[in-house]
Amino acid sequence: MGKAHRLGRIQGHLGRGRLSLPRHSIDRAAPIGVFDSGIGGLSVLQALRAALPGEDLVYVADSAHTPYGERSDAFIAERTSAIARHLRDAHGAKLLVIACNTASAAAAHVVRQDNPGWPVVAIEPALKPAAHHTRTGHVGVLATRSTLASRKFAALRAAVTSAHQDVRFSEVACDGLAASIERCAQGGDGSASRDLLARYLGQLGELGAAAHAIDTLVLGCTHYPLIREQIQPQLPLGVYIVDSGLPVARHARRLLHSTGLLRPEPLGDEALSPASLRLLATGSVHTLHAAAQRWLRPMAAPLPDVETLAL
Ligand code: DGL
Repeated sequence: MGKAHRLGRIQGHLGRGRLSLPRHSIDRAAPIGVFDSGIGGLSVLQALRAALPGEDLVYVADSAHTPYGERSDAFIAERTSAIARHLRDAHGAKLLVIACNTASAAAAHVVRQDNPGWPVVAIEPALKPAAHHTRTGHVGVLATRSTLASRKFAALRAAVTSAHQDVRFSEVACDGLAASIERCAQGGDGSASRDLLARYLGQLGELGAAAHAIDTLVLGCTHYPLIREQIQPQLPLGVYIVDSGLPVARHARRLLHSTGLLRPEPLGDEALSPASLRLLATGSVHTLHAAAQRWLRPMAAPLPDVETLAL
């Protein structure tokens, strides 16, 4: 397909002619840019690798500024915009995945406004799947303070409760939990995050299968699925955990497909050489490397060195 034709299709799909073309040219062979305040987005990266095995990926951890969850919207928007610009200009990313609920709530609209025509996938706490799943009608949500205080979250909650009037949500802002998961990746014994979890789960209310108990738990921060094996034993049997990794990966796939930007899946010999992965960190390269080794290893061998990003 010719370039002009391809870009015409992208414009048509994204904005039915209303949006202008991106300032950089979008190339189907270009990587997908993925970003989080730190290591949390690896839980999304893993889902992206599974759903899009033919796609090259560039992951940025803004570890010099993690966590975002207790920062101001202006700060988060400034960091998100700078990283989006870097992924667009230095890597020519064909799609941006904001693998951070906090940054998505505070800044996805800013990135979209600044980059008309550039496909951007934002993440949100999985309230919709949770509402479908719950039997008791009571869903718990763990997320950062900033996500829970956002207008985006309020609108999502209102939309889901109006579609599922028998469902109610209880939320707890988990101050310090993402930061303790970052520390855990550096080799901690996990006791700090276990203690914090116990406190926050206790604040949610009764969990379990009893009539009014919370039977479905939403992990509304991409860091939390990384410690699923700590969360699960703290829950009574029958409490179902949902996160947003898989839905986001599926959404990214659909978006690439509908814009003509999806790379064909590797076949034959090509399937033996996996798509490339670059890992960048604005802060500790060791933390991201250790986290990737722990959480991505089975899917991405050999792991690349983590590059320092001065931004
Ligand atoms: N992983 C992020 C999220 O999904 C941010 C955690 C933080 O930086 O506080 O919200």
